[in-house]
Amino acid sequence: MKISIIGGGGRVGSCAAFALQCGGIVSEIQLIDANQAMAEGEALDLLHGAAFAADQRIYAGDYERAADSDLFLITAGLRRQPDESRLDLINRNVALFVQILESIKQAGMRRDAIVFVVSNPVDILTQLAGQRLGLPWEQVIGLGTMLDSTRFSSLIADALKVAPTQVKALTLGEHGDSMVPIWSSASINGLPLTEYPGCSPAFQSQIFARTRASGAEVIKRKGGAGYAVGIAIRDVIHAIALDQQRVLPVSSLVQGSYGIKDVCFSVPTVVGRRGVQEQVAMKLWPKEQAGLQQSARSLKETMIKVQL
Ligand code: LAC
Repeated sequence: MKISIIGGGGRVGSCAAFALQCGGIVSEIQLIDANQAMAEGEALDLLHGAAFAADQRIYAGDYERAADSDLFLITAGLRRQPDESRLDLINRNVALFVQILESIKQAGMRRDAIVFVVSNPVDILTQLAGQRLGLPWEQVIGLGTMLDSTRFSSLIADALKVAPTQVKALTLGEHGDSMVPIWSSASINGLPLTEYPGCSPAFQSQIFARTRASGAEVIKRKGGAGYAVGIAIRDVIHAIALDQQRVLPVSSLVQGSYGIKDVCFSVPTVVGRRGVQEQVAMKLWPKEQAGLQQSARSLKETMIKVQL
């Protein structure tokens, strides 16, 4: 599978490339960046490790060489300031994003290609990509709350001193302030997490508050997320490359789950080689479903502003 990373010279794009290199599943990783020298430097550094990592082609390229990509990963964009919400970014990032979509279209793309959006505000930009590229909605995916869900599970595991890979705790909805913690299904190796010693209601609200603020916390401390977002991206790309049919909290155009339509955000979604295989609206607690409906309203209000 050939992956072209637009924004491959930046922190998120290069961390995704490194995660994909460590994963050793995809065959070709092309880095494209407005800063060509950075794309070349990152590609070279990755290439240097190839002999000990995996048999993959890794190089810096351009939109023309991306035309036959199986998957376009878009990470390019301006980063949030620590006190700025992701939705505030929209006015600064939309114009840049539209230019990227135009460049992809002009150079050409396969009709079965998958477009995977990571740039923020990710749900809004995923919706915009679907509208502008005219691809079937199943082929346009946003990272959504994948990153929030790994943060949530990892922070819970760290605080309760349990194994991180045994904790499964999702957030759904917007990748942003209106994201919803899904305690109803949170588990530790299949057992109800809310029954685990120490997982009190006070603990739950404190750990979710930290999760929701994690993006800003990382920006304050090191300038922006890198490793965790790279790992989350790899999870989605491997699910596509290996046609795994995994249920993931990615963002896509919601088709009626929980009574929601015409907005992109994260609901439980089966991901495989065609992209979104299915959205599955499993029953959640009423307050979680109400949280998702509220999150959809807040995104729709923003989307109206974008289209003006
Ligand atoms: C974050 C950015 C990537 O949450 O949205 O860190």
